[in-house]
Amino acid sequence: MIVDDKLRTPGAVRDAERWTAHNYHPLPVVISSAEGAWLTDVDGRRYLDCLAGYSALNFGHRHPQLIAAAHAQLDRLTLTSRAFIHDQFADFCRELAELCGKDLVLPMNTGAEAVETGIKVARKWGYQVKGVPAGQANIVVAEGNFHGRTTTIVSFSTDEDARADFGPYTPGFTVVPYGDLDALTAAINENTVAVLLEPIQGEQGVVVPPEGYLPGVRQVCTERNVLFIADEIQSGLGRTGATFACDHEGVVPDMYLLGKALGGGIVPVSAVAANADVLGVLKPGQHGSTFGGNPLACAVAIEVVRLLSTGEFQRRSAQLGERLRAGLEGLVGKGLVGVRVRGLWAGLDIDPALMTGREACERLAARGVLAKDTHGSTIRLAPPLVITEEEIDLAVTQLAEVLAG
Ligand SMILES: Cc1ncc(COP(=O)(O)O)c(C=O)c1O
Repeated sequence: MIVDDKLRTPGAVRDAERWTAHNYHPLPVVISSAEGAWLTDVDGRRYLDCLAGYSALNFGHRHPQLIAAAHAQLDRLTLTSRAFIHDQFADFCRELAELCGKDLVLPMNTGAEAVETGIKVARKWGYQVKGVPAGQANIVVAEGNFHGRTTTIVSFSTDEDARADFGPYTPGFTVVPYGDLDALTAAINENTVAVLLEPIQGEQGVVVPPEGYLPGVRQVCTERNVLFIADEIQSGLGRTGATFACDHEGVVPDMYLLGKALGGGIVPVSAVAANADVLGVLKPGQHGSTFGGNPLACAVAIEVVRLLSTGEFQRRSAQLGERLRAGLEGLVGKGLVGVRVRGLWAGLDIDPALMTGREACERLAARGVLAKDTHGSTIRLAPPLVITEEEIDLAVTQLAEVLAG
């Protein structure tokens, strides 16, 4: 708790609360600069970033290669709109398509826009390729999903905070329990155009489905002529110790939805990657975005793809993730009642008798570690992939102290 009147933080927190809609409940820290895995606040206090902008900062704050690309691009060209082609566009689309092993890329800005794009493409594919009767397409989604905040996306959210009072809701979605292949299979009918899933549910608390689930989804989608859309916006691009979370089970979806880390923590960049038989259904005028695929976004995202193409970050995430796992599993029974880890991504269930996730995050912040609670007593850790072994140990030690009271 901050008591010193000379500190700038309390006033800055008050101002933020006064002038903004209260659609978030941030921790009362006010950040003014950052580098790598570390943040500094307006009072000069340093924090280890264990959230990384919900995985938007996989390469850490201000990665030199990404910052250099952004600076160089700012000095040349920032926006053309898609009315014209610019000189960063083809390289971005080609390099990302190659990383995904797909024919084509459709760039957008935010994650929610990538999801909306995926839904629109799947519906059009359903009508034009699969032969679904007009207006009858349905998409199977999972309970506990988080795909963004648009009116269509919240229509199939099972989180009442995200959904309530935002109707009328968009029809055409069937919700089934996550991880239950039989339920998913039963929900597919002749008008199903897609299954839309997070390969690991991030907002739900880093929920990893049972082994065999994703390959099973892949198989049933292939058998029933249904597109498998993997929302890898939070799980993709190195977070789990592989380029995509689907890679852990050798699964290749029909569409990858990407965002967050694709913008290198500098600009919002999202994209849909798929083969030509799917993305090819879109013709001029049927979909678009003024800012999607802009030169600055492409210049940064090209470097993001190049950072990933060496495999170094995926390896770091896998190796350091084992250290994180060992540390966190050591706390089960000592304040944690459950831990799920994939690469440098962890969901921790705190014993609700001890404290809420929010309280734990406040106490961690007071000890110089920033993390974010999600759903009651669960905390998500997603440090930048540039974090070191010593810094992981520091985070685990501080968590142990918080849990010990
Ligand atoms: C899996 C997933 N999909 C989509 C989104 C939405 O992304 P954005 O906030 O950029 O719209 C998120 C954001 O947390 C996400 O985790």
